Amino acid sequence: MEIFSSSQLVEIAHQFGTPIWVYSAEQIRKNIRELKCFDTIRYAQKAASNLNILRLMKDEGVMVDSVSLGELARSLRVGFDPKAEEVIFTADLIDFSTLETVIEKGITVNAGSLDMLRRIGEHSPGHRVWVRINPGFGHGHCNKTNTGGPQSKHGIWHTDLPEVIEIVEKYELKLIGIHMHIGSGVDYEHLTQVCKSMMNVIESVDVGGLRNLEAISAGGGLTVPYEKDEPEMDIQQYFSQWDEMKKLVEKVLNKKIQLEVEPGRFLVANAGVLVTQVHSIQHRPKDAADFILVDAGFNDLMRPSMYGSYHGMSVISQNDTKDRPIHEYAVAGPLCESGDVFTQHEGGIVTTRHLPQAQVGDFLVIHTTGAYGASMSSNYNSRPLAAEVLVESDGTARLIRKRQRIEDLINLEQKTLKIEDDLF
Ligand code: LLP
Repeated sequence: MEIFSSSQLVEIAHQFGTPIWVYSAEQIRKNIRELKCFDTIRYAQKAASNLNILRLMKDEGVMVDSVSLGELARSLRVGFDPKAEEVIFTADLIDFSTLETVIEKGITVNAGSLDMLRRIGEHSPGHRVWVRINPGFGHGHCNKTNTGGPQSKHGIWHTDLPEVIEIVEKYELKLIGIHMHIGSGVDYEHLTQVCKSMMNVIESVDVGGLRNLEAISAGGGLTVPYEKDEPEMDIQQYFSQWDEMKKLVEKVLNKKIQLEVEPGRFLVANAGVLVTQVHSIQHRPKDAADFILVDAGFNDLMRPSMYGSYHGMSVISQNDTKDRPIHEYAVAGPLCESGDVFTQHEGGIVTTRHLPQAQVGDFLVIHTTGAYGASMSSNYNSRPLAAEVLVESDGTARLIRKRQRIEDLINLEQKTLKIEDDLF
């Protein structure tokens, strides 16, 4: 299902320029509604961290996870209340300025290593903490997004829970939650395995050590279809196995607990597109496909170059493109690097797409880019960050991030140059 009409996107491209990220508020709300069966939805904002998206989440009763001082600043700016656990900090290590902030603001910490847990204990005895457990296995849509098992740096090893309890007792920390997140883009089989592991971990320690437990988290990793024939995840089935597990944990602990889920991709991926403009059709000999060159590069959308990720594409223009002949194209960006191709498999093998014959001046839309799109952009090749637009439920397109200016890019360095200039 298309979330925007072609004419709406052409209008936005004309009004705000390209490349541009466009999100649908309505689609984000729809995704949230699907997960409302969980007690708490905690949005992993790394997927798309624009303040306006965070505000939408907050207005819909979604809480937020932060993994850096920058993400904490965003959460606090939007008004997530640390005292009500609306924002928590998840990491495997904590630097000094972040530590100061979490202590000063009373932000609950989800510690992914024993050293981080100790550090919190030493500097803030009595602090409210979660622990992130590595259950001994992981999975992801590719190796780079697998965050569990012995090859992963993330999480406290599942057999180390007795040490967690020792540290917690020593510093009188309040262990309020146990969390597992084994990867991003996780298949159903592995998600089921995580659920079973949670119980095993809880049963591996004396219940007394878990007396303050208030919640467990299923983590994120929920999948969304990127290709047309990929199935959607069955959320009800996923929820019911966790709900059953929660009831078992409640029996063991003899108290009620909350069940959290921590998705990034699921809430925003299908709610966003990247609109680019076609600047060249690069002809190649008959046995190779022509390239469509657009004005977005892997500095904007990194996923195809980084993971070989697939994103659907369409060619739109002021005139209908429906009756144009279909051609086979590779699609690439403007960067001075041959890996700057949006149609590629993992390992850099260039692939092609069947698209309506493209012309310079058309727009090429890259679909399902709401998650890990804008948030992973960089300034490579000294290209400014693209603008972001949120289309509200009434169809109004609102600019939620201005396009970065070249001036913004060089200002930080300009200052250092001046100092040096002064020396000579
Ligand atoms: N919780 C934790 C602790 C995480 O590290 C992540 C993602 C999530 C939740 C949310 O995962 P999700 O529901 O979005 O799968 N850049 C990659 C994805 C990396 C995800 C990193 N952590 C991509 O573009 O596919």
